[in-house]
Amino acid sequence: MEIIIQPTPEAATKIAARLVASVIQTKPAGVLGLATGSTPLRLYRELVEMKLDWSKLTTFNLDEYVGISPQHPQSYHSFMWENLFQHVNVATKNVNIPDGLAKDIPGFCARYENKIAATGGIDLQLLGIGTDGHIGFNEQTSSLASRTRIKTLTPQTRQDNARFFGGEEKVPHHVITMGIGTILEARQCLLLAFGKNKARAIAEAVEGPITSMNPASALQQHPKVTVCLDEESAAELKLQDYYRYVYDHKPDWQTI
Ligand code: F6R
Repeated sequence: MEIIIQPTPEAATKIAARLVASVIQTKPAGVLGLATGSTPLRLYRELVEMKLDWSKLTTFNLDEYVGISPQHPQSYHSFMWENLFQHVNVATKNVNIPDGLAKDIPGFCARYENKIAATGGIDLQLLGIGTDGHIGFNEQTSSLASRTRIKTLTPQTRQDNARFFGGEEKVPHHVITMGIGTILEARQCLLLAFGKNKARAIAEAVEGPITSMNPASALQQHPKVTVCLDEESAAELKLQDYYRYVYDHKPDWQTI
């Protein structure tokens, strides 16, 4: 795991954007795994400004709420089109986001998994982290081998996301999410976290035991993970000085 700590979310995002851009430029017909939420918003803005060529890329989103239509303003479909897809030249047919209105949810999830495999697998998976350590919507105690499936959100996550819906009672109870096993199969993962409310989840994910009580800790098993943090989200890491030292002494030939 490479832990990159920057003074601000803006600085951490710039590094993350360079990493995403390098994957897009190296593999123009590659496959990106994308996330929603507050954390990647700045990253999407940076990527749009970079004017990269998305025409041959395929994208798979991590998750979607069950029971709301793609047109719902708080759906992750809406989020992705509003904040990224409408601003880049991605081909609509190459965009994949779980269908929150799927009639046969297990069948849909199996097809989503098959489609990821059929495209050759995800080259870079972008991730945020919940205050409880969730990645995608793999809440605490999710199987570390889980695949795309329906999950029930915890009261904490519904409370955390109430700000988007204008009230906790409006937040759906269920989601479709890629599993932790699905995420771990991506060739590379990029985890972003900003703000002090993520500090404990990050410390546990990076330096704690691998446990389904912090689903992001499963990333310790992945051979290629970059974690981009601001000072606040890094505040509870015990080895902060070491991560800074490693980054400052990164060999020139090791690109981001
Ligand atoms: C969203 C997702 C979630 C979020 C997490 C953090 O697609 O997969 O895991 O990344 O809930 O959300 P924010 O960024 O809003 O703090």
